[in-house]
Amino acid sequence: MVSKLFLAALTYVVAACAQASSWNVTQHGEMFHFVPGLGACGYTNDSTRSVASVSLNFFNSFPGSTDNPNDNPICTHHLNVTYNGTTVVAQIVDLCIQCADNSVGLSSSAFAHLADLRVGIVKNVTWVVDST
Ligand SMILES: *[C@@H]1O[C@H](CO)[C@@H](O)[C@H](O)[C@H]1NC(C)=O
Ligand SMILES: *[C@@H]1O[C@H](CO)[C@@H](O)[C@H](O)[C@H]1NC(C)=O
Ligand SMILES: *[C@@H]1O[C@H](CO)[C@@H](O)[C@H](O)[C@H]1NC(C)=O
Ligand SMILES: *[C@@H]1O[C@H](CO)[C@@H](O)[C@H](O)[C@H]1NC(C)=O
Ligand SMILES: *[C@@H]1O[C@H](CO)[C@@H](O)[C@H](O)[C@H]1NC(C)=O
Repeated sequence: MVSKLFLAALTYVVAACAQASSWNVTQHGEMFHFVPGLGACGYTNDSTRSVASVSLNFFNSFPGSTDNPNDNPICTHHLNVTYNGTTVVAQIVDLCIQCADNSVGLSSSAFAHLADLRVGIVKNVTWVVDST
């Protein structure tokens, strides 16, 4: 009896955590740059394009996500990334497997609008998925 209650409580906590990071809420995290190619969305882009990647966890928890990443509705959205008073808009095209949940990647052209590429990783940017 006690263990059943405990399990029920545990399930509730896990479910609550999964819902806590709503996709349209502004987040803070690390920004890095990556070299786009054929990404998880099935698009092929290069570094001259303003494109973005989000973490595997954020990608897979996006509403409407299925086993086929190409069909993920997140692939129809842009990411607004803000740092030091400047915002860059980049199309979401890929996911990053080894990233923290709130990390975002930008192509070098997009990254360069916000910081020097030689910085490599910017610790605390603000980002949000644009709803349009
Ligand atoms: C976020 O999405 C939820 C439903 O998915 C909606 O109720 C809410 O208004 C949205 N918030 C913003 C800031 O767009
Ligand atoms: C990325 O590539 C796809 C085609 O693979 C294209 O439709 C889309 O416009 C490209 N995105 C950007 C920002 O250039
Ligand atoms: C922030 O932007 C200002 C110009 O608006 C620039 O002088 C400064 O170097 C930038 N700081 C960083 C950390 O990128
Ligand atoms: C990131 O910056 C925001 C303000 O833009 C601040 O509220 C937040 O505490 C910072 N987070 C970290 C981890 O430094
Ligand atoms: C993202 O940026 C675009 C272009 O500046 C703007 O129209 C849109 O409102 C922004 N979305 C969010 C959620 O901040």
